[in-house]
Amino acid sequence: MKIVAKIGPDISLLALPSEQIYVGDYVSIEDEDQNAMLIVQVCDEQYLDHLGTVEDMVRDEVLKAAAEGVESDPLDISSISHLIRDMRLLKCKIRGSVDGGRFTSNVSWLPSRVKAKIRRLPIAELMRLAGLNGSRSITLGEVGEAEMLRIFAESLDGRLNIITGRKESGKSHLAKLLATEMVRFGAYVFIFDLNNEYGGLAWNRDGSPSRSSEKTVILSPGNSMLFTLQYLGMSAVVGMLNHVLDMPGASLREFIRLWKLLESQKSLSMRALGDQIQTTRCNELVRDALFSRYHTMLSSGLFTDEQSFRIEDIFSKLPNGGLVVISLGGVSAHIRQMIVEIFLGKLVGLLESKRIPPVFLFAEEAHLYLRETYWDDIVTRMRHFGIFTTFITNQPDAINDGIYRQVDNIFLFNFTNDTDLEKIARVTMIDTDTVKSIVRTLPPRNCLALGHAVANLPIIVKVTQTETRNLGETRLFFNTEWAACPVQRST
Ligand SMILES: Nc1ncnc2c1ncn2[C@@H]1O[C@H](COP(=O)(O)OP(=O)(O)O)[C@@H](O)[C@H]1O
Ligand SMILES: [Mg+2]
Repeated sequence: MKIVAKIGPDISLLALPSEQIYVGDYVSIEDEDQNAMLIVQVCDEQYLDHLGTVEDMVRDEVLKAAAEGVESDPLDISSISHLIRDMRLLKCKIRGSVDGGRFTSNVSWLPSRVKAKIRRLPIAELMRLAGLNGSRSITLGEVGEAEMLRIFAESLDGRLNIITGRKESGKSHLAKLLATEMVRFGAYVFIFDLNNEYGGLAWNRDGSPSRSSEKTVILSPGNSMLFTLQYLGMSAVVGMLNHVLDMPGASLREFIRLWKLLESQKSLSMRALGDQIQTTRCNELVRDALFSRYHTMLSSGLFTDEQSFRIEDIFSKLPNGGLVVISLGGVSAHIRQMIVEIFLGKLVGLLESKRIPPVFLFAEEAHLYLRETYWDDIVTRMRHFGIFTTFITNQPDAINDGIYRQVDNIFLFNFTNDTDLEKIARVTMIDTDTVKSIVRTLPPRNCLALGHAVANLPIIVKVTQTETRNLGETRLFFNTEWAACPVQRST
Protein backbone atom coordinates (compact mmCIF):
# COMPACT_ATOMS: atom_id res chain seq x y z
CA MET A 1 0.00 0.00 0.00
CA LYS A 2 1.03 3.56 -0.63
CA ILE A 3 -0.27 6.94 0.39
CA VAL A 4 -1.78 8.85 -2.48
CA ALA A 5 -3.19 11.95 -0.88
CA LYS A 6 -4.17 13.63 2.36
CA ILE A 7 -6.88 16.23 2.57
CA GLY A 8 -7.79 17.32 6.08
CA PRO A 9 -8.63 14.23 8.11
CA ASP A 10 -8.87 12.06 4.98
CA ILE A 11 -6.09 9.92 3.61
CA SER A 12 -6.25 7.94 0.39
CA LEU A 13 -4.25 4.76 0.07
CA LEU A 14 -3.49 2.79 -3.02
CA ALA A 15 -3.94 -0.95 -2.62
CA LEU A 16 -3.41 -3.92 -4.89
CA PRO A 17 -6.42 -6.18 -5.47
CA SER A 18 -4.58 -8.95 -3.64
CA GLU A 19 -4.06 -6.96 -0.46
CA GLN A 20 -6.62 -8.16 2.04
CA ILE A 21 -7.96 -5.00 3.49
CA TYR A 22 -11.59 -4.02 3.74
CA VAL A 23 -13.92 -1.28 4.89
CA GLY A 24 -13.76 -0.92 8.67
CA ASP A 25 -10.19 -2.19 8.96
CA TYR A 26 -7.51 -0.20 10.70
CA VAL A 27 -4.20 0.56 9.05
CA SER A 28 -1.02 1.83 10.61
CA ILE A 29 1.26 4.17 8.69
CA GLU A 30 4.64 4.02 10.34
CA ASP A 31 7.26 6.66 9.74
CA GLU A 32 10.60 5.72 11.20
CA ASP A 33 12.11 9.17 10.72
CA GLN A 34 9.40 10.70 12.83
CA ASN A 35 9.33 7.73 15.21
CA ALA A 36 5.55 7.84 15.11
CA MET A 37 2.65 5.93 13.73
CA LEU A 38 -0.50 7.24 12.13
CA ILE A 39 -3.66 5.24 12.67
CA VAL A 40 -6.30 5.41 9.97
CA GLN A 41 -9.51 3.52 9.31
CA VAL A 42 -10.73 2.45 5.90
CA CYS A 43 -14.18 3.93 5.41
CA ASP A 44 -14.78 3.40 1.73
CA GLU A 45 -13.11 1.89 -1.31
CA GLN A 46 -13.13 2.98 -4.92
CA TYR A 47 -11.54 2.01 -8.21
CA LEU A 48 -8.51 3.95 -9.14
CA ASP A 49 -9.67 6.67 -11.50
CA HIS A 50 -6.57 6.75 -13.57
CA LEU A 51 -6.58 8.79 -16.72
CA GLY A 52 -6.69 6.47 -19.65
CA THR A 53 -8.04 3.45 -17.77
CA VAL A 54 -11.45 3.80 -19.26
CA GLU A 55 -9.96 4.37 -22.71
CA ASP A 56 -7.92 1.24 -22.24
CA MET A 57 -10.92 -0.79 -21.21
CA VAL A 58 -12.97 0.41 -24.14
CA ARG A 59 -10.16 -0.43 -26.56
CA ASP A 60 -9.85 -3.88 -25.04
CA GLU A 61 -13.56 -4.63 -25.31
CA VAL A 62 -13.74 -3.41 -28.89
CA LEU A 63 -10.72 -5.47 -29.89
CA LYS A 64 -12.14 -8.54 -28.23
CA ALA A 65 -15.42 -8.17 -30.03
CA ALA A 66 -13.79 -7.49 -33.40
CA ALA A 67 -11.16 -10.22 -33.36
CA GLU A 68 -12.62 -13.04 -31.35
CA GLY A 69 -10.26 -15.88 -30.59
CA VAL A 70 -7.10 -14.03 -31.49
CA GLU A 71 -5.18 -13.71 -28.31
CA SER A 72 -1.49 -13.17 -28.44
CA ASP A 73 0.16 -11.48 -25.54
CA PRO A 74 3.77 -12.67 -25.37
CA LEU A 75 4.85 -10.04 -22.85
CA ASP A 76 1.87 -10.69 -20.58
CA ILE A 77 0.86 -7.08 -20.70
CA SER A 78 -2.80 -7.74 -20.24
CA SER A 79 -2.35 -9.12 -16.74
CA ILE A 80 -0.56 -5.95 -15.69
CA SER A 81 -3.19 -3.82 -17.31
CA HIS A 82 -5.88 -5.86 -15.52
CA LEU A 83 -4.07 -5.35 -12.25
CA ILE A 84 -4.05 -1.61 -12.77
CA ARG A 85 -7.75 -1.62 -13.55
CA ASP A 86 -8.47 -3.47 -10.32
CA MET A 87 -6.29 -1.28 -8.15
CA ARG A 88 -8.25 0.09 -5.25
CA LEU A 89 -8.23 3.50 -3.73
CA LEU A 90 -8.96 3.19 -0.01
CA LYS A 91 -10.59 6.24 1.47
CA CYS A 92 -9.45 6.42 5.06
CA LYS A 93 -10.07 8.64 8.06
CA ILE A 94 -7.30 9.55 10.44
CA ARG A 95 -8.24 8.33 13.92
CA GLY A 96 -5.12 9.30 15.80
CA SER A 97 -1.43 8.71 16.10
CA VAL A 98 0.94 6.89 18.38
CA ASP A 99 3.73 9.13 19.43
CA GLY A 100 6.41 7.83 21.76
CA GLY A 101 4.21 4.86 22.65
CA ARG A 102 1.23 7.05 23.58
CA PHE A 103 -2.00 7.25 21.64
CA THR A 104 -3.28 10.73 20.88
CA SER A 105 -6.05 11.95 18.65
CA ASN A 106 -4.04 15.00 17.85
CA VAL A 107 -2.14 14.58 14.58
CA SER A 108 0.20 17.34 13.61
CA TRP A 109 2.61 15.60 11.26
CA LEU A 110 2.58 14.11 7.83
CA PRO A 111 4.10 10.70 7.08
CA SER A 112 6.49 10.27 4.21
CA ARG A 113 4.85 9.06 1.03
CA VAL A 114 8.00 7.23 0.04
CA LYS A 115 9.27 5.66 3.22
CA ALA A 116 6.15 5.06 5.29
CA LYS A 117 5.51 1.44 6.14
CA ILE A 118 1.85 0.64 5.80
CA ARG A 119 0.18 -2.45 7.23
CA ARG A 120 -3.13 -3.68 8.53
CA LEU A 121 -3.43 -3.28 12.27
CA PRO A 122 -4.90 -6.20 14.22
CA ILE A 123 -7.69 -5.18 16.61
CA ALA A 124 -5.98 -6.50 19.72
CA GLU A 125 -2.92 -4.42 18.93
CA LEU A 126 -5.07 -1.38 18.19
CA MET A 127 -6.87 -1.66 21.51
CA ARG A 128 -3.59 -2.11 23.31
CA LEU A 129 -2.12 0.96 21.63
CA ALA A 130 -5.21 2.96 22.51
CA GLY A 131 -4.67 2.02 26.13
CA LEU A 132 -7.94 0.17 26.67
CA ASN A 133 -7.81 -1.70 29.92
CA GLY A 134 -9.94 -3.30 32.58
CA SER A 135 -10.20 -6.64 34.28
CA ARG A 136 -13.66 -7.82 33.34
CA SER A 137 -13.61 -8.62 29.68
CA ILE A 138 -16.69 -9.23 27.56
CA THR A 139 -16.28 -10.88 24.18
CA LEU A 140 -18.49 -8.88 21.91
CA GLY A 141 -17.84 -10.74 18.71
CA GLU A 142 -15.71 -11.24 15.67
CA VAL A 143 -13.86 -8.55 13.79
CA GLY A 144 -12.93 -9.47 10.25
CA GLU A 145 -12.11 -13.12 9.70
CA ALA A 146 -10.48 -14.40 12.82
CA GLU A 147 -10.09 -11.70 15.41
CA MET A 148 -12.26 -11.20 18.47
CA LEU A 149 -13.27 -7.90 19.97
CA ARG A 150 -13.22 -7.72 23.72
CA ILE A 151 -14.53 -4.77 25.63
CA PHE A 152 -14.38 -4.25 29.36
CA ALA A 153 -17.40 -4.25 31.64
CA GLU A 154 -15.85 -1.24 33.36
CA SER A 155 -16.37 0.81 30.23
CA LEU A 156 -20.14 0.40 30.61
CA ASP A 157 -20.11 1.22 34.30
CA GLY A 158 -21.55 4.63 35.06
CA ARG A 159 -22.23 5.16 31.36
CA LEU A 160 -25.13 5.89 29.11
CA ASN A 161 -25.41 3.55 26.14
CA ILE A 162 -27.59 3.37 23.07
CA ILE A 163 -28.20 0.33 20.89
CA THR A 164 -29.96 1.26 17.71
CA GLY A 165 -30.55 -0.11 14.23
CA ARG A 166 -33.41 -1.25 12.12
CA LYS A 167 -35.82 -4.01 13.03
CA GLU A 168 -34.41 -7.54 13.28
CA SER A 169 -30.84 -6.35 13.02
CA GLY A 170 -29.78 -7.92 16.31
CA LYS A 171 -30.21 -5.13 18.88
CA SER A 172 -32.00 -7.17 21.52
CA HIS A 173 -29.51 -9.95 21.01
CA LEU A 174 -26.63 -7.62 21.84
CA ALA A 175 -28.55 -6.22 24.80
CA LYS A 176 -29.02 -9.75 26.11
CA LEU A 177 -25.35 -10.52 25.65
CA LEU A 178 -24.26 -7.38 27.51
CA ALA A 179 -26.81 -7.91 30.28
CA THR A 180 -25.81 -11.52 30.95
CA GLU A 181 -22.12 -10.69 30.92
CA MET A 182 -22.62 -7.82 33.35
CA VAL A 183 -24.56 -10.13 35.64
CA ARG A 184 -21.77 -12.69 35.40
CA PHE A 185 -19.49 -10.06 36.90
CA GLY A 186 -21.88 -9.55 39.78
CA ALA A 187 -23.81 -6.52 38.50
CA TYR A 188 -27.53 -5.94 38.93
CA VAL A 189 -29.31 -5.45 35.64
CA PHE A 190 -32.93 -4.35 35.44
CA ILE A 191 -34.67 -4.81 32.12
CA PHE A 192 -37.90 -3.25 30.95
CA ASP A 193 -38.90 -6.11 28.70
CA LEU A 194 -41.47 -5.02 26.18
CA ASN A 195 -41.82 -8.30 24.28
CA ASN A 196 -41.34 -10.72 27.16
CA GLU A 197 -38.23 -12.08 25.50
CA TYR A 198 -35.55 -11.64 28.14
CA GLY A 199 -36.96 -14.43 30.30
CA GLY A 200 -35.27 -16.81 27.85
CA LEU A 201 -31.91 -15.81 29.29
CA ALA A 202 -32.50 -18.23 32.15
CA TRP A 203 -32.47 -21.17 29.74
CA ASN A 204 -30.15 -22.63 27.16
CA ARG A 205 -31.43 -23.60 23.77
CA ASP A 206 -31.33 -27.28 24.70
CA GLY A 207 -33.67 -26.62 27.63
CA SER A 208 -31.09 -26.81 30.41
CA PRO A 209 -30.74 -23.92 32.87
CA SER A 210 -28.29 -21.29 31.68
CA ARG A 211 -25.34 -19.75 33.51
CA SER A 212 -27.49 -16.86 34.67
CA SER A 213 -30.48 -19.03 35.51
CA GLU A 214 -29.98 -18.82 39.27
CA LYS A 215 -29.54 -15.08 39.10
CA THR A 216 -32.61 -14.39 36.99
CA VAL A 217 -35.79 -12.95 38.48
CA ILE A 218 -38.80 -12.45 36.26
CA LEU A 219 -41.31 -9.99 37.58
CA SER A 220 -44.76 -10.02 36.06
CA PRO A 221 -47.00 -7.18 37.13
CA GLY A 222 -49.90 -8.33 39.21
CA ASN A 223 -48.30 -11.69 39.72
CA SER A 224 -44.94 -11.59 41.40
CA MET A 225 -44.90 -7.84 41.64
CA LEU A 226 -47.57 -6.51 44.00
CA PHE A 227 -46.99 -3.45 46.11
CA THR A 228 -48.61 -2.18 49.26
CA LEU A 229 -49.22 1.54 49.59
CA GLN A 230 -47.15 1.50 52.74
CA TYR A 231 -44.10 0.19 50.92
CA LEU A 232 -44.36 2.55 47.98
CA GLY A 233 -44.78 5.63 50.09
CA MET A 234 -46.73 8.74 49.31
CA SER A 235 -44.33 10.39 46.92
CA ALA A 236 -44.16 7.40 44.56
CA VAL A 237 -47.95 7.02 44.48
CA VAL A 238 -48.62 10.74 44.12
CA GLY A 239 -45.98 10.88 41.38
CA MET A 240 -47.79 8.13 39.54
CA LEU A 241 -51.23 9.74 39.99
CA ASN A 242 -49.86 13.02 38.78
CA HIS A 243 -47.76 11.91 35.82
CA VAL A 244 -49.49 8.81 34.55
CA LEU A 245 -53.10 9.17 35.61
CA ASP A 246 -53.27 12.96 35.10
CA MET A 247 -54.95 13.66 38.39
CA PRO A 248 -55.93 17.33 38.71
CA GLY A 249 -54.38 19.46 41.45
CA ALA A 250 -57.45 19.79 43.67
CA SER A 251 -57.99 16.04 43.72
CA LEU A 252 -54.31 15.42 44.41
CA ARG A 253 -54.53 17.63 47.46
CA GLU A 254 -57.54 15.72 48.68
CA PHE A 255 -55.74 12.45 48.03
CA ILE A 256 -52.75 13.59 50.07
CA ARG A 257 -55.07 14.63 52.90
CA LEU A 258 -56.74 11.21 52.91
CA TRP A 259 -53.39 9.46 52.78
CA LYS A 260 -52.10 11.40 55.77
CA LEU A 261 -55.29 10.75 57.67
CA LEU A 262 -55.06 7.01 57.07
CA GLU A 263 -51.41 7.02 57.92
CA SER A 264 -52.05 8.75 61.23
CA GLN A 265 -54.68 6.11 61.99
CA LYS A 266 -52.15 3.42 60.97
CA SER A 267 -54.70 1.96 58.62
CA LEU A 268 -53.19 2.73 55.22
CA SER A 269 -54.42 0.16 52.72
CA MET A 270 -56.19 0.01 49.39
CA ARG A 271 -59.41 -1.10 51.06
CA ALA A 272 -59.32 1.70 53.64
CA LEU A 273 -58.48 4.19 50.92
CA GLY A 274 -61.54 3.11 48.93
CA ASP A 275 -63.78 3.42 52.00
CA GLN A 276 -62.33 6.77 52.83
CA ILE A 277 -62.93 8.17 49.33
CA GLN A 278 -66.54 7.01 49.55
CA THR A 279 -67.27 8.57 52.92
CA THR A 280 -65.15 11.71 52.85
CA ARG A 281 -66.96 14.99 52.53
CA CYS A 282 -65.74 16.76 49.45
CA ASN A 283 -66.73 18.20 46.13
CA GLU A 284 -68.44 15.65 43.88
CA LEU A 285 -66.09 16.32 41.00
CA VAL A 286 -63.11 15.73 43.25
CA ARG A 287 -64.67 12.51 44.52
CA ASP A 288 -65.29 11.36 40.95
CA ALA A 289 -61.69 12.12 40.03
CA LEU A 290 -60.44 10.23 43.07
CA PHE A 291 -62.71 7.29 42.39
CA SER A 292 -61.78 6.89 38.77
CA ARG A 293 -58.06 6.83 39.64
CA TYR A 294 -58.67 4.53 42.54
CA HIS A 295 -60.43 2.09 40.25
CA THR A 296 -57.65 2.25 37.72
CA MET A 297 -55.23 1.41 40.51
CA LEU A 298 -57.43 -1.47 41.64
CA SER A 299 -57.85 -2.92 38.19
CA SER A 300 -54.16 -2.58 37.39
CA GLY A 301 -53.57 -5.47 39.77
CA LEU A 302 -50.38 -3.84 40.98
CA PHE A 303 -51.54 -3.12 44.50
CA THR A 304 -52.25 -5.35 47.43
CA ASP A 305 -53.01 -5.08 51.12
CA GLU A 306 -51.05 -8.17 51.97
CA GLN A 307 -47.36 -8.93 51.53
CA SER A 308 -45.60 -6.30 49.41
CA PHE A 309 -42.96 -7.01 46.84
CA ARG A 310 -39.78 -5.26 47.94
CA ILE A 311 -37.14 -4.27 45.43
CA GLU A 312 -34.38 -4.38 48.03
CA ASP A 313 -35.14 -8.06 48.73
CA ILE A 314 -33.74 -8.93 45.30
CA PHE A 315 -30.37 -7.64 46.41
CA SER A 316 -30.31 -9.63 49.62
CA LYS A 317 -31.55 -12.79 47.90
CA LEU A 318 -29.02 -12.51 45.10
CA PRO A 319 -25.80 -11.29 46.67
CA ASN A 320 -23.71 -12.06 43.56
CA GLY A 321 -25.62 -10.04 41.00
CA GLY A 322 -29.00 -10.40 39.42
CA LEU A 323 -30.85 -10.14 36.15
CA VAL A 324 -34.23 -8.63 36.91
CA VAL A 325 -36.65 -8.84 34.03
CA ILE A 326 -39.74 -6.68 34.36
CA SER A 327 -42.22 -8.11 31.88
CA LEU A 328 -44.16 -5.33 30.25
CA GLY A 329 -45.45 -7.35 27.31
CA GLY A 330 -49.15 -8.05 27.37
CA VAL A 331 -50.08 -5.21 29.70
CA SER A 332 -51.84 -2.08 28.57
CA ALA A 333 -49.91 1.09 27.84
CA HIS A 334 -51.34 2.75 30.92
CA ILE A 335 -50.31 0.02 33.30
CA ARG A 336 -46.91 -0.15 31.66
CA GLN A 337 -46.37 3.50 32.44
CA MET A 338 -47.60 3.01 36.00
CA ILE A 339 -45.13 0.19 36.59
CA VAL A 340 -42.22 2.14 35.18
CA GLU A 341 -43.12 5.22 37.19
CA ILE A 342 -43.44 3.28 40.42
CA PHE A 343 -40.37 1.21 39.80
CA LEU A 344 -38.05 4.05 38.86
CA GLY A 345 -39.38 6.25 41.66
CA LYS A 346 -38.77 3.54 44.22
CA LEU A 347 -35.38 2.61 42.77
CA VAL A 348 -34.17 6.21 42.94
CA GLY A 349 -35.37 6.42 46.54
CA LEU A 350 -33.42 3.29 47.47
CA LEU A 351 -30.31 4.52 45.69
CA GLU A 352 -30.57 7.93 47.29
CA SER A 353 -30.55 6.38 50.72
CA LYS A 354 -27.67 4.11 49.59
CA ARG A 355 -29.59 0.97 50.53
CA ILE A 356 -28.77 -0.72 47.24
CA PRO A 357 -25.72 -0.61 44.96
CA PRO A 358 -25.82 1.15 41.56
CA VAL A 359 -27.83 -0.71 38.93
CA PHE A 360 -27.86 -1.05 35.16
CA LEU A 361 -31.12 -0.44 33.38
CA PHE A 362 -31.91 -1.78 29.92
CA ALA A 363 -34.89 -0.08 28.34
CA GLU A 364 -36.33 -1.25 25.02
CA GLU A 365 -38.32 1.32 23.08
CA ALA A 366 -38.38 3.57 26.10
CA HIS A 367 -40.45 6.25 24.37
CA LEU A 368 -43.43 3.95 24.75
CA TYR A 369 -43.46 4.17 28.54
CA LEU A 370 -41.01 6.76 29.72
CA ARG A 371 -42.58 10.15 30.18
CA GLU A 372 -40.93 13.16 28.58
CA THR A 373 -39.53 14.64 31.77
CA TYR A 374 -37.81 11.42 32.75
CA TRP A 375 -35.39 11.46 29.84
CA ASP A 376 -33.23 14.27 31.08
CA ASP A 377 -33.60 12.97 34.58
CA ILE A 378 -32.18 9.63 33.55
CA VAL A 379 -29.01 11.09 32.12
CA THR A 380 -28.44 13.55 34.90
CA ARG A 381 -30.01 12.92 38.29
CA MET A 382 -30.62 9.18 38.04
CA ARG A 383 -27.19 8.59 36.62
CA HIS A 384 -25.72 10.49 39.48
CA PHE A 385 -27.50 8.25 41.98
CA GLY A 386 -26.48 5.11 40.15
CA ILE A 387 -28.92 4.10 37.41
CA PHE A 388 -26.89 3.49 34.27
CA THR A 389 -29.17 3.19 31.30
CA THR A 390 -28.92 1.44 27.97
CA PHE A 391 -31.58 2.53 25.50
CA ILE A 392 -32.50 0.08 22.77
CA THR A 393 -34.57 1.39 19.89
CA ASN A 394 -35.22 1.06 16.20
CA GLN A 395 -36.31 4.67 15.96
CA PRO A 396 -33.28 6.87 16.44
CA ASP A 397 -35.45 9.98 16.42
CA ALA A 398 -37.37 8.76 19.47
CA ILE A 399 -34.33 9.75 21.51
CA ASN A 400 -33.78 13.45 21.74
CA ASP A 401 -30.55 15.22 20.84
CA GLY A 402 -29.76 16.10 24.44
CA ILE A 403 -29.43 12.41 25.26
CA TYR A 404 -27.20 11.75 22.26
CA ARG A 405 -24.90 14.50 23.40
CA GLN A 406 -24.43 12.75 26.74
CA VAL A 407 -24.09 9.24 25.42
CA ASP A 408 -20.88 7.32 26.06
CA ASN A 409 -21.32 4.24 23.90
CA ILE A 410 -23.35 3.63 20.79
CA PHE A 411 -23.80 0.26 19.16
CA LEU A 412 -25.04 1.01 15.73
CA PHE A 413 -26.66 -1.67 13.59
CA ASN A 414 -27.78 -1.34 10.02
CA PHE A 415 -30.01 1.46 8.80
CA THR A 416 -30.88 1.81 5.15
CA ASN A 417 -33.57 4.41 5.46
CA ASP A 418 -32.11 7.82 4.59
CA THR A 419 -33.97 9.75 7.29
CA ASP A 420 -32.75 7.43 10.04
CA LEU A 421 -29.23 7.42 8.65
CA GLU A 422 -29.20 11.18 8.43
CA LYS A 423 -30.38 11.47 12.02
CA ILE A 424 -27.94 8.98 13.45
CA ALA A 425 -25.03 10.33 11.43
CA ARG A 426 -25.73 13.80 12.79
CA VAL A 427 -25.80 12.82 16.44
CA THR A 428 -23.05 10.23 16.83
CA MET A 429 -19.64 11.21 18.06
CA ILE A 430 -17.83 10.47 14.82
CA ASP A 431 -17.94 12.02 11.37
CA THR A 432 -21.03 11.78 9.23
CA ASP A 433 -19.24 10.19 6.25
CA THR A 434 -18.05 7.20 8.23
CA VAL A 435 -21.45 6.51 9.69
CA LYS A 436 -23.20 6.81 6.37
CA SER A 437 -20.77 4.72 4.37
CA ILE A 438 -20.36 1.97 6.96
CA VAL A 439 -23.82 1.68 8.50
CA ARG A 440 -25.66 1.51 5.21
CA THR A 441 -23.83 -1.67 4.24
CA LEU A 442 -23.70 -3.44 7.60
CA PRO A 443 -25.18 -6.94 7.35
CA PRO A 444 -27.57 -8.08 10.11
CA ARG A 445 -25.88 -9.02 13.40
CA ASN A 446 -22.98 -6.72 12.62
CA CYS A 447 -22.68 -3.45 14.42
CA LEU A 448 -20.45 -0.45 14.53
CA ALA A 449 -19.26 0.05 18.09
CA LEU A 450 -18.56 3.66 18.97
CA GLY A 451 -17.40 5.44 22.06
CA HIS A 452 -15.74 4.78 25.34
CA ALA A 453 -15.91 0.97 25.24
CA VAL A 454 -13.75 0.89 22.11
CA ALA A 455 -11.47 3.79 23.06
CA ASN A 456 -13.35 6.07 20.67
CA LEU A 457 -12.14 4.05 17.69
CA PRO A 458 -15.15 2.88 15.67
CA ILE A 459 -15.02 -0.86 15.12
CA ILE A 460 -17.24 -3.12 13.05
CA VAL A 461 -18.04 -6.28 14.94
CA LYS A 462 -20.08 -9.38 14.17
CA VAL A 463 -21.89 -9.96 17.42
CA THR A 464 -21.23 -13.37 18.83
CA GLN A 465 -23.89 -16.05 19.14
CA THR A 466 -25.19 -16.97 22.56
CA GLU A 467 -26.25 -20.23 24.09
CA THR A 468 -29.44 -18.95 25.62
CA ARG A 469 -32.94 -19.54 24.40
CA ASN A 470 -34.43 -17.08 22.01
CA LEU A 471 -37.87 -15.92 23.08
CA GLY A 472 -39.90 -13.08 21.68
CA GLU A 473 -39.85 -14.14 18.07
CA THR A 474 -42.77 -12.84 16.09
CA ARG A 475 -45.54 -15.41 15.95
CA LEU A 476 -45.99 -16.07 12.27
CA PHE A 477 -49.27 -17.10 10.73
CA PHE A 478 -47.82 -19.74 8.46
CA ASN A 479 -46.11 -21.43 11.39
CA THR A 480 -49.31 -21.96 13.31
CA GLU A 481 -51.83 -24.77 13.12
CA TRP A 482 -54.25 -22.29 11.57
CA ALA A 483 -52.28 -22.28 8.36
CA ALA A 484 -51.99 -26.06 8.24
CA CYS A 485 -55.69 -26.77 7.65
CA PRO A 486 -57.29 -23.78 5.96
CA VAL A 487 -59.84 -25.93 4.19
CA GLN A 488 -61.31 -27.50 7.31
CA ARG A 489 -61.51 -24.12 8.91
CA SER A 490 -63.55 -22.65 6.08
CA THR A 491 -66.11 -25.43 6.24
N1 LIG B 1 -25.25 -12.24 16.71
C1 LIG B 1 -26.27 -13.07 16.55
N2 LIG B 1 -26.07 -14.40 16.51
C2 LIG B 1 -27.10 -15.25 16.35
N3 LIG B 1 -28.37 -14.88 16.22
C3 LIG B 1 -28.66 -13.57 16.26
C4 LIG B 1 -27.61 -12.60 16.43
N4 LIG B 1 -28.19 -11.38 16.43
C5 LIG B 1 -29.50 -11.57 16.27
N5 LIG B 1 -29.78 -12.88 16.16
C6 LIG B 1 -31.12 -13.43 15.92
O1 LIG B 1 -31.78 -12.66 14.94
C7 LIG B 1 -33.12 -12.40 15.29
C8 LIG B 1 -33.40 -10.91 15.40
O2 LIG B 1 -32.58 -10.36 16.40
P1 LIG B 1 -33.11 -9.36 17.49
O3 LIG B 1 -31.97 -9.11 18.40
O4 LIG B 1 -34.37 -9.83 18.11
O5 LIG B 1 -33.39 -8.09 16.57
P2 LIG B 1 -33.92 -6.66 16.95
O6 LIG B 1 -34.01 -6.57 18.44
O7 LIG B 1 -32.91 -5.74 16.37
O8 LIG B 1 -35.24 -6.53 16.26
C9 LIG B 1 -33.36 -13.12 16.61
O9 LIG B 1 -33.96 -14.34 16.32
C10 LIG B 1 -31.97 -13.32 17.16
O10 LIG B 1 -31.87 -14.45 17.96
MG1 LIG C 1 -35.69 -6.36 19.65
